[in-house]
Amino acid sequence: MDFITPYISSLEKYFLESSLIGSPDTLYEPMRYLLSIGGKRMRPALTLMAYHLYKDDVEYALPAAYAVEVFHNFTLMHDDIMDHANTRRGQSTVHKKYDVNAAILSGDAMLIKAYELITNYPDSQGIALVRVFNKMAIELCEGQRLDMDFETKSDVTIAEYLRMVEYKTAVLLAYALQQGAILANAPSSDGYHLFEFGKNLGISFQIQDDILDTFGEGAKVGKKIGGDIIQNKKTYLYLKTLEIGGGSELNVLSKFYDPHYVGTEDDKIQSVKNAFISSGAAEYANQVRDAYHDLAMSHLAGITVDSNKKKALISLADFLIKRDK
Ligand code: IPE
Ligand code: IPE
Ligand code: MG
Ligand code: MG
Ligand code: MG
Repeated sequence: MDFITPYISSLEKYFLESSLIGSPDTLYEPMRYLLSIGGKRMRPALTLMAYHLYKDDVEYALPAAYAVEVFHNFTLMHDDIMDHANTRRGQSTVHKKYDVNAAILSGDAMLIKAYELITNYPDSQGIALVRVFNKMAIELCEGQRLDMDFETKSDVTIAEYLRMVEYKTAVLLAYALQQGAILANAPSSDGYHLFEFGKNLGISFQIQDDILDTFGEGAKVGKKIGGDIIQNKKTYLYLKTLEIGGGSELNVLSKFYDPHYVGTEDDKIQSVKNAFISSGAAEYANQVRDAYHDLAMSHLAGITVDSNKKKALISLADFLIKRDK
């Protein structure tokens, strides 16, 4: 974490100084709550690191870095309503601690705050940021919608899954890097490689998120382990089991993912988890996650700056696939 720490500390300082304060407090308090209970701050770190490839005055990119974290937290606030999740970062989700209306409205206001932050840059850069931001944000909504549609769709393919995670998760990581490149006036070919680096890293990141949701340690992950299984999410683990599983594993999936299943959550989680392992899908998931990580690294190699300058991004990417939270 040595290369990451300085970026994260300058961020936390900026977060404290620009705390979301206003009236009524009932609008702002849920925003501060979610931002204050943790989070890896990976997306703002990506913005600062991308900017730092070209320029040293990283504080210039801090408002945009903050914007991407505020936007990310808005998506989580709404995602937890959609996923019926009670726990995030080891604490109550916003709609559980306050109520659903609070999570909807404070979430909406966070999206607006993100726009406010990126449009504070000079027009030449602010307009460029809004354009790429809009493209990313609508794709994220498309991916999020697909994620929910897939809960009740039985014939999802792995290619459809990959497109869904590219949209719901990966384009935001790619955007975080892209905005750093825009603010630093980086060459456009580097902008392309940074975007592709982020996109492939994001796919790898989401596969690891799926793995942790089933196989992680609750205390570290900070979410309910097995939440995806309970919600009938079409994760990589599920789809690969469907593809390569034997008769007994396929029986487990059809029994427990039946919309009329009436047994206990624990029984479902345990049985499905075993099927993910015995089918070999869990092992495949690790391999595919690593393959997207490698693809990401090949794009990082295509960036024209001195390799020394890439160390922070390399160590962040490395941390992301080895992470247990
Ligand atoms: C969670 O993102 C949402 C996904 C796209 C999987 P993170 O795992 O980055 O969440 P925090 O910000 O660190 O809590
Ligand atoms: C989150 O995906 C994607 C967005 C918030 C857009 P998940 O639903 O897998 O994220 P977690 O696992 O709740 O953090
Ligand atoms: Mg979700
Ligand atoms: Mg979720
Ligand atoms: Mg998840």
